[in-house]
Amino acid sequence: MDRVLVTGGAGFIGSNFIRHLLNETNYKVINLDKLTYAGNLRNIKDLRGNKRHRFVKGDITNRKLAGPLVGKVDAVVNFAGLIVLEPLAIIAFAPFSS
Ligand SMILES: NC(=O)c1ccc[n+]([C@@H]2O[C@H](COP(=O)([O-])OP(=O)(O)OC[C@H]3O[C@@H](n4cnc5c(N)ncnc54)[C@H](O)[C@@H]3O)[C@@H](O)[C@H]2O)c1
Repeated sequence: MDRVLVTGGAGFIGSNFIRHLLNETNYKVINLDKLTYAGNLRNIKDLRGNKRHRFVKGDITNRKLAGPLVGKVDAVVNFAGLIVLEPLAIIAFAPFSS
């Protein structure tokens, strides 16, 4: 195994996971991310120019795009998703509200 598709790789966990793969292993990484409000190319700015990292902008639900990428790799690690913060949880943790 030497190629991994990481989805959501411009997000918080995905970008750090990719950095770990590139620094600690010999894997080549394809990074598929839609760049929603949460995704940011700044998270992977330092990976620009790394020959083992390829960024592809797109949605994981786009079969025409994602299908061929899946066919090129040995494993897929998915971090693409939405973080939902429950409003009630925010209220519960609000300190000293009057
Ligand atoms: N951060 C946490 O503490 C935490 C805790 C538990 C679970 N999770 C889950 O882990 C996953 C990653 O978390 P994170 O903090 O890195 O989130 P994040 O929001 O920082 O990153 C998610 C990334 O997925 C991308 N994305 C979203 N929908 C996409 C789509 N349809 N196609 C392609 N890319 C898409 C976004 O552009 C973003 O770059 C999420 O599913 C999250 O719910 C996170």
